[in-house]
Order: sequence, then structure tokens, then C-alpha cells
Amino acid sequence: MKIAFFDSGIGGLSVLHHAMRVLPKEQFVFYADEDNVPYGVKTTDEVKGFVQQAFDFLVGCDVKAIVVACNTATAAAVSALRAALPAIPVIGVEPGVKPAAQLTKSGVVGVLATTRTLHSDRFQRLVGNHANHVRVLAQACPGLADTIEHEGADSPAVGKLLDAYIAPLAAAGADVVVLGCTHYPWVAEGIARRMPAGTVLLDTGEAVARQTERLLSAAGLLGGGHGHLTL
Ligand code: DGL
Repeated sequence: MKIAFFDSGIGGLSVLHHAMRVLPKEQFVFYADEDNVPYGVKTTDEVKGFVQQAFDFLVGCDVKAIVVACNTATAAAVSALRAALPAIPVIGVEPGVKPAAQLTKSGVVGVLATTRTLHSDRFQRLVGNHANHVRVLAQACPGLADTIEHEGADSPAVGKLLDAYIAPLAAAGADVVVLGCTHYPWVAEGIARRMPAGTVLLDTGEAVARQTERLLSAAGLLGGGHGHLTL
């Protein structure tokens, strides 16, 4: 049986590559909802509908776990998906606000994410539960995921968006920047270049891969074959 990875586009690959390293004996299937990318500027109900369609497809693909490798889809739909699919572990992805709040020395944390993620109840709860003692600058990045997707991570159009979205974080003295969308690790270098030296960029891809391993192990579902990826 396979582990499914799901995202609106190529962002999920930034999580999948950690999982392929942590779980080298597993078979993976990757589903990118390229027809509906970007999710980040759509309504919660629209995102829920897209995610439900993807799950209906993936459940028919002989999967033993589904990783929602998308912060926006996780915020909109992960609770409903878990309730609807109690027999299959569903692993979500959330901005690393908790580790960021523990790591910051300046007391200012930047969070880069989609508008939909930042407006979600889940994100508000995350900040309320783990980051009340620090200043959290929630920077929505409309256009960034789809420009990475369609123009490429090194394109001038991506550079322009990064200039606009990173400047407020640098000006406010953020020393930790949370990559709260799985597309953003693809532009981590460009983000780092626009922040002062020593700024920590937090990507939760590795933690999600480890959590997937833990859940599969606890359920006795770890694979022992040859690693394989179906796109
Ligand atoms: N990669 C997705 C995330 O982690 C969102 C990109 C999009 O807007 O579709 O939030």
C-alpha cells in the first residue's frame, strides 16, 4: 500500500522529498491539484470541495495514509477529513509557529503563508496557544505560490513579490521566519537573502515526515519494500 501526498501544486514536493529520505522503503503517490491552484485566495468552502475531490480519488488508490502537504488545505479541511476517514491516518501541515516562538531572541516572528491559512481559525488558535508571549507578524503572500508554480522559483516576478513580502519582516526585526506554505521552501534562498544574516527559516517538512513515520509505525503499517514514487 502507498502513502499519498497531496497539494494544490508543486509545494507538496517540498514535503515529499523529506518523507522519501525518512521512509526509503515506502511507495508514494503524489497528487497535485493543478486545475485549481492556487488554493490560498479561494474561499474555505471552495478549498474543502477541492480537497474532498482529491481524497475521493486517493482513497481509491490503495493508500494506507494521506499527507495533506498543504497548509491551506489542512487549515480548511483536515478535521473533516479525519472524521470522515477514521481508518486511514491523515497527516496535516501547519505553520511552525510553536517552534518559532521558542526560538526567537528578538521576540518578533514572521509567518509567511496564504491569505486563507492566516484567516483560518486553526491559525488563530495556533498563535493563541503557542505564541502569546511574542509578536507574530502574519504576512499574507497572495500570488506567490502560483507565481512560483507558473514562472519558476528564480523568476523576476517571484523576486518582486519577495521584495514586497519580506521587507516588512526585516524592518520589524523578525529573527525567525516561518515558511507557512509548502511552496515557499522552493524560494528559501531568496527569502534568506532579503533578511539579516542569521535569520532562522522554519520549514516543517522534516517534522511532518517524522510524524508520518511515527503514525505508521504505531499502526503497524510501515512498509519494507523498495521505495517507489507515482506521480
Ligand atoms: N502549498 C499550499 C500551502 O501550503 C498553498 C498554495 C496555494 O495557494 O495553492 O498552503
